[in-house]
Amino acid sequence: MVPRFGHGRGIRVTAAAGEQGTPWQRLQVLPRLVGLLWRTSPIITTLIALLTLGWGLQTVAQVHVLRRLVETAQAVLAGTAPVTLALLWGGALGGLALLNKVNGSLLAQLSDRQQEVLRRAIERRCYAHAQATPLEQLEWAEHYDHLQRAREGTEQHLFSSMRRLWGRLTALVTLISLLIYVGQFHWGLPLLLAVGATPGALIYMHLSRQRYRLDRKHTHDERRLTMFTGLLTGRAAAAEIRLFGFGGWLVDQADQLWRKLRGERLGLAMSEARLSVVEGVVNNVAYLAAMVFSIWLLAHGHASIGAYAAFFVAIERFALEYSKLLRDMADAHNDLRYVYDFFAFLEGPRVDLEQGRRQPGRVSRGIVFDDVSFTYPGSEQPALADVNLTIRPGERLALVGENGAGKTTLVKLLMGLYQPTEGRILVDGVDLRDLAPGDWYRRFGTVFQDFLRYQTSVRDNITFGWVEGAAEEAALSDAVARSGADEVVATLPDGLDTVLGKEFHDGHELSVGQWQKLAIARAYFRPAEILILDEPASALDAKAEAAVYGHFAQLAAERTVVLISHRLGSCRIADRILVLQKGRLVEAGTHADLVAEGGAYAELFQLQAAWYR
Ligand SMILES: Nc1ncnc2c1ncn2[C@@H]1O[C@H](COP(=O)(O)OP(=O)(O)OP(=O)(O)O)[C@@H](O)[C@H]1O
Ligand SMILES: [Mg+2]
Repeated sequence: MVPRFGHGRGIRVTAAAGEQGTPWQRLQVLPRLVGLLWRTSPIITTLIALLTLGWGLQTVAQVHVLRRLVETAQAVLAGTAPVTLALLWGGALGGLALLNKVNGSLLAQLSDRQQEVLRRAIERRCYAHAQATPLEQLEWAEHYDHLQRAREGTEQHLFSSMRRLWGRLTALVTLISLLIYVGQFHWGLPLLLAVGATPGALIYMHLSRQRYRLDRKHTHDERRLTMFTGLLTGRAAAAEIRLFGFGGWLVDQADQLWRKLRGERLGLAMSEARLSVVEGVVNNVAYLAAMVFSIWLLAHGHASIGAYAAFFVAIERFALEYSKLLRDMADAHNDLRYVYDFFAFLEGPRVDLEQGRRQPGRVSRGIVFDDVSFTYPGSEQPALADVNLTIRPGERLALVGENGAGKTTLVKLLMGLYQPTEGRILVDGVDLRDLAPGDWYRRFGTVFQDFLRYQTSVRDNITFGWVEGAAEEAALSDAVARSGADEVVATLPDGLDTVLGKEFHDGHELSVGQWQKLAIARAYFRPAEILILDEPASALDAKAEAAVYGHFAQLAAERTVVLISHRLGSCRIADRILVLQKGRLVEAGTHADLVAEGGAYAELFQLQAAWYR
């Protein structure tokens, strides 16, 4: 898909300072919204459209029936018409009022139903989009602002704009029919009403734009406020906050933010209040003028008393509906700003995981880093610079280096999670960028350095590594045994089915090292061709650590393994050790070679060895 709003894979979506899109672009969102409604609920949409049309015509019908009723009543008084005829018109008026109620209630029900269907459809699209968003995109704060706006925009404005769409149609039908009706008496009347209601609508539109701009300006601070409240109320930071005693500081920060946001919102509310008084005055002057004009028409014999009664109601309804329509249009125009943000978010950069070349079978010749450099979005310094490296199939590699040397970055590039900013990675001679990402990801089993703790069963925590194989019990027990997670499982009341975590159920809590064993089991469970172990033993006890590295040594030769570790002793078993320093590959060789070379590795190794002497 070619992004219309977005700017291609992995490139920052910059938001204009004020708002996104021109009024014309925003208007173009309207057919898309209707298209979305049509696709998600065609029958409901048709019914709503029909009922809307019917509702719109009812006002003029009521006005006309009222006129006939008054005229008939006049004739009854003059003895030229039977009473039953007047009763009939009276009944018709009552019937119309009833129909009006039924119509309104049906419309409300259908709109509710449509809203639910639409909400579900939109959520699915949002989730699908979130999963396809390139990881580079997640490095930008703006991405989260945009996401927040898209979410809130849908919740608060998409549905209301949908309702207003129908409301506007009703009002439009009502107005046109009333216009024709009132225009019969004098063309000047509708003109007077229309001109009178316009300034108010313009004021209202101005206010809506201010409100949107303020919302947009506040998105970032609102997210920060959510972060503070999350820290203050959540479990993750509870212990540190208490122990270090910075809860009060957090409350102050939240308070300051809140005061700032509230101050600006109140300022806007004040100017809204002032302007709405002006709006009301202008509207009423126009209405009074129309009334005076209609009395003049009556007095000069341009209208019958029945017509005058109809007129009276029609003018009132016209004034009401017209200013409502203008307000509605202003609201709708404003809603479109938010809806535009939503569609713009959906059309932001995305990666189709299944699009691209598929290499049959395993990697046969190797993976080559060809002058690869990488700089994180928004960073000045490259995290990797000019890396040249060939990883042969079945090789056991160890990656070492100080904190921040670029080890994790290197494996993330290898897995295709980020794209090199310079140079390329070749898989059997094919640029990794040309391969289908999903196909490439399937080849990796990874223990991430910042592994996740899923608040669900032990089984889920492991089978998330390979959901398609969740029923493979033999593979599951194998992974559990090899990762050392069997010792954890043995202590749990329901074994593999024990629910973990405390935030959603009365689950069992594990120690950090126990969680890490599950993360290792998750990687082992996946039938992967390449294993990436990023500090897999950082939280393990000495025995468990020895076991992990023991397995590393025994892993069958058909698996390529990349191990990242600060324990240089554990790297001895690697076929090759790569040393990274400030993003550059400075040494490579076996343990013995590197120690003999007396370089950076030898120095680090001596440093660590000294502790064990
Ligand atoms: N998301 C990010 N955005 C910007 N810079 C980053 C990001 N992640 C890492 N870096 C920077 O990239 C460099 C390499 O980080 P990396 O995580 O690859 O180091 P590492 O060798 O894995 O370190 P460690 O031993 O601490 O895990 C560091 O200077 C770090 O500050
Ligand atoms: Mg790291």
